[in-house]
Amino acid sequence: MSLPVADALRDSLAGLLDGLPPRQAGQAVERLIASYRGRTPTDAPILRDRADVVAYAAYRMPATFAAVRSALEEFAAAVPEWVPGAHVDVGGGTGAAVWAAGAVWPGTRPVTVLDWAEPALDLGREIAAAHPELRDVRWQRSRIGAALTVESTDLVTVSYVLNELTAPDRAALVDAAATAARAVVIVEPGTPDGYTRVIEARDRLVGAGFHIAAPCPHSAACPIVPGTDWCHFAARVSRSSLHRQVKGGSLAYEDEKFAYVAATRFPPAAPAASRVVRKPQIRKGQVLLDLCEAEPGTGPEAETGPALCRTTVTKRHGPLYKAARDTDWGDAWPPA
Ligand SMILES: C[S@@+](CC[C@H](N)C(=O)[O-])C[C@H]1O[C@@H](n2cnc3c(N)ncnc32)[C@H](O)[C@@H]1O
Repeated sequence: MSLPVADALRDSLAGLLDGLPPRQAGQAVERLIASYRGRTPTDAPILRDRADVVAYAAYRMPATFAAVRSALEEFAAAVPEWVPGAHVDVGGGTGAAVWAAGAVWPGTRPVTVLDWAEPALDLGREIAAAHPELRDVRWQRSRIGAALTVESTDLVTVSYVLNELTAPDRAALVDAAATAARAVVIVEPGTPDGYTRVIEARDRLVGAGFHIAAPCPHSAACPIVPGTDWCHFAARVSRSSLHRQVKGGSLAYEDEKFAYVAATRFPPAAPAASRVVRKPQIRKGQVLLDLCEAEPGTGPEAETGPALCRTTVTKRHGPLYKAARDTDWGDAWPPA
């Protein structure tokens, strides 16, 4: 009996740092953070050698895995009958999205990871050897750009990649994914810029005939007025001793903020009626939910299409109140 995917990944990543003095691991992470900071896309990979990719995998991969898993779970809830037969992860690096897809849809399937950084692919292959279902993944060198082609597949994931690309390369990647796949899931950091890149990609996917399955409960334009706010979510990640060493503090966890879009060629069978887009506020006898709604609410924006609104669920709502207390930021509302 194999370990659950998340446990197997944690053990495999912990093994990477075995024998590496903590000071050296900490320095590799600091170097990596410095090379990402204030960076604009260039012609060469950031992940150049094994030290870079070990630092990336140990420090960032648990968080990117948690964010992608969270996005895929919400996507899977909107398409409950659908299981990807084949998966391509573009800019997959050490394979976080492959592990996340394995956690959401257990079993084996043809999987290809494309990336231009050979050391990342090598380490991805090594980490994946820890899980029987991931042993046959193909790790293939490929450069994202105008010449990118993606083989025909069911699912394409693109996680934490758009922010490393120029605008023409982002467009080429989204178009190649839309041509190749039945479903495309894009995840970016949960920053205003990450949200903007997700919206850009979302517009392109809708333009190519895709339906939005998550997080939006509709495929119409996002109701957020640009520059006033940004749609994002959070996934809880346990902090390793390496995290505590680099970031200080003693918290056992941190929240990885991310923005995402999941889109399908087919209409989702169970789309959310609305989505909780902020952390619910629990007050005495009431829960305040900020929602993105498929149908116009009753507020001033009523009749203008999808809208953001706040709803208050009180004890008087009976079972719905209990459900509201159990609801998290990012969940569909009301629960199925
Ligand atoms: C921040 S990492 C994300 C890795 C992985 N998807 C994850 O979520 O952990 C960005 C990845 O994109 C790859 N990448 C960036 N620009 C690329 C390009 N032009 N062609 C191919 N891969 C690229 C990098 O090598 C790196 O592995």
